[in-house]
Amino acid sequence: VENIASESDFKTLTQWLMANTKDLELTVLMAQLGLACKATSRACAKAGIAGLFGMYGSENSSGDEQKKLDVLSNDIFVNALVKSGSCCVLVSEENEEPIIVPEEVAGRFCVAFDPLDGSSNIDCNVSTGTIFAVYEKVSPGKLGTVKDILRTGNDIVAAGYCMYGAATELVMCFKAGKVERFALDPSLGEFVHTHSNVKIPEGGGKKIYSCNEGNSLNWDESIKSSIAFFKENKYAARYVGSMVSDVHRTILYGGCFIYPADKKSPKGKLRVLYEGFPMALIVEAVGGVASTGMFNGSIQRMLDLVPTDIHERCPVILGCPRDVEIVLSYYKKDA
Ligand code: AHG
Ligand code: MN
Ligand code: MN
Ligand code: MN
Repeated sequence: VENIASESDFKTLTQWLMANTKDLELTVLMAQLGLACKATSRACAKAGIAGLFGMYGSENSSGDEQKKLDVLSNDIFVNALVKSGSCCVLVSEENEEPIIVPEEVAGRFCVAFDPLDGSSNIDCNVSTGTIFAVYEKVSPGKLGTVKDILRTGNDIVAAGYCMYGAATELVMCFKAGKVERFALDPSLGEFVHTHSNVKIPEGGGKKIYSCNEGNSLNWDESIKSSIAFFKENKYAARYVGSMVSDVHRTILYGGCFIYPADKKSPKGKLRVLYEGFPMALIVEAVGGVASTGMFNGSIQRMLDLVPTDIHERCPVILGCPRDVEIVLSYYKKDA
């Protein structure tokens, strides 16, 4: 897909939103998410100067040691989303409990987000990101409840991620819509629309597998056989350790990204609401596959899960159909 922006003719995220939805509240919500991504991008770029590297000194509900930028980015997103007037429930990796937005500023949408994904990489300047999923509340009245967000991934109305890399890129899609790419022009302070209808390479693209092989002794046999197959077939190994970066490469180059369950983490490591689901929606929209592999006794399409806890985890096997089908074929054979 060719680049659709140029120095003299470009469309901003706000212009794209105005042209692609009549829902003003959703437009405001997405614009506020864009603002928070810009502010987080700036905070990450200034971290060395502003003394923002290092640990915050507490743990989050997933047991992660919080970085200063985990907490700062979380505050940026919470403030931007509450002030949008479009949200009623917020779920963040960095908040133990859901945030129920006060009635006087509540709106229709529920947002699950990972404000800084791959934050263990921030102090050594390796790319990180933000991931988000948006639901529309279903319960009556203005006040949201956690039940408005503990729902199947099939109810998600918008999802996306922002990658803080050499460029700051926002990738998002509305439900059943096309996947759109935007690049931040820091001199304008605007996300510029660069690609529309992003698709994973035909035939699966580059032979790349992406996983943390440090866990391989604890993997199940099907995953061990899958990775052995990739090695025997001359796949390259690529692993950044930031889900946003590994998924962005997988979508643009092809291959697969796997964070499986293992003996130590029987549900895997990645969280359903603000890592698995949003990435699964995007990956399916670009023509890929997102599965949990064998999980709770069956091989599941990730978006079909119904989480019962806001920080619930699930195994993640996603990427081009060619490679994900290889992994699922081992699960079927070993079932
Ligand atoms: P987060 O920084 O938001 O807690 O997410 C980290 C996740 C994800 O970004 C990445 O794919 C995975 O952790 C890497 O885990 P390992 O370090 O165990 O490989
Ligand atoms: Mn974390
Ligand atoms: Mn994360
Ligand atoms: Mn995070």
